[in-house]
Amino acid sequence: MTRRTTTVAIVGAGPAGLVLAHVLHRAGITVTVHERLSRAAVESAARAGVLEHRVVEYLRALGLTDRLTAEGERHGRCEITCLGENVLVDYGALSGGIRHWVYPQQLLLRDLIAAYLADGGSIAFERPVESVTVGADGRPELNTADGPLTAEYVIGCDGAHSVVAAAFPDGADGPGRRYPYDWLTVLARISRPVEQIRYAVHADGFAGMMPRTADVGRFYLEVPAGEDPAGWGERRIRAELERRLELDGEDPALGALLETGMLRMRGKVARRMRAGRLLLAGDAAHTVTPSGAKGLNSAVADAADLAAALIAELRDGDGTGLDGTGLDGTGLDSTGLDGTGLDGYERRRLDAAWQTQEFSEQLLDLLHLPAGLPPGQREFALRLRLERIRRIAAPGPEGAAFALAYAGAGELRLPAMWPSAQGGAVASGATGR
Ligand code: PHB
Repeated sequence: MTRRTTTVAIVGAGPAGLVLAHVLHRAGITVTVHERLSRAAVESAARAGVLEHRVVEYLRALGLTDRLTAEGERHGRCEITCLGENVLVDYGALSGGIRHWVYPQQLLLRDLIAAYLADGGSIAFERPVESVTVGADGRPELNTADGPLTAEYVIGCDGAHSVVAAAFPDGADGPGRRYPYDWLTVLARISRPVEQIRYAVHADGFAGMMPRTADVGRFYLEVPAGEDPAGWGERRIRAELERRLELDGEDPALGALLETGMLRMRGKVARRMRAGRLLLAGDAAHTVTPSGAKGLNSAVADAADLAAALIAELRDGDGTGLDGTGLDGTGLDSTGLDGTGLDGYERRRLDAAWQTQEFSEQLLDLLHLPAGLPPGQREFALRLRLERIRRIAAPGPEGAAFALAYAGAGELRLPAMWPSAQGGAVASGATGR
């Protein structure tokens, strides 16, 4: 039997895996993609829906945003309610014009899959990778239902229970936090579109109302950690959403509840994102709570960095992307990746993962009251939060910093050979999450 080989084996066809596959495939690199789930399952799971500015600009440069920009919507404002006050945060203005796009994750995945297949790529759906081993020569081998596959590099884009991370000789596991609350999630039909993200900071717990499409919204309710969803019938969910979000005649009316779920809230960052020829991207390396909507965005940011670094590595073979002439005068090598190419991937993306965790944690801290606060002290805690909300919403350094991080300012790096990378964007240090 002939041995099956590939250059880059990608495990997982989520946002990180698909973006990586696209860029590598178009650069002429042989790629295989294995996905545990069916195509229909990948394309239908309702999850995130808020895309950062820099992610959309990157996808636009790859030519992947036709439907996104036609059907998605730009959002530059959110509102935070607290103690009866509704504070409008015009982060689009505070950031000098950086805004989000609202476009459901499952539609983005549908677009990415369709474009990749149209480009001649293929995805092995319902073909899980059972395990990954590393041979004596350092070459990884994937154990799949179709037999073994040997690769130059294996990239784990396979989520929190990554089989690639499990193959790291010393493990990849890093520190994490389980928060003392969970978020009950609701996808609901609505009478009119959600105009902007609404966060409600409330004595009985946080609630959120997020835009998705013209007649569907996503809602969140803070509940105690470990809460049994069975205790949350439809009537209770509706009543609690309406009360905490203070929904009135001006707001979308809640129609049918299409889907409910429970998000166990935790944050976690791997200690390692690379072991030799095994690399991790996205949720395989870090779990972030939904607060701030950073999960999908940081997965794409990992993929963009890794794609540029791998292309340079595979073309030039020395991990720096340099052809022996040294840096190009800007301090950046031909990958734009500060002279460290693939060797710097882990450090760059772990730093970014921690920046993302910290942002998400700050927002969680604003949106939730400390656990076990006696009723008499809740008003005090709420009033302090209102101060912070007002500060974020006001022009000034704090408002600008929040707005830039929230909307995802900066740029993701295109590979050096990409037509629209000519003349080269330089990754922004301050906001390069
Ligand atoms: C969402 O769209 O689901 C979302 C948006 C912003 C957040 C959290 C969740 O901070």
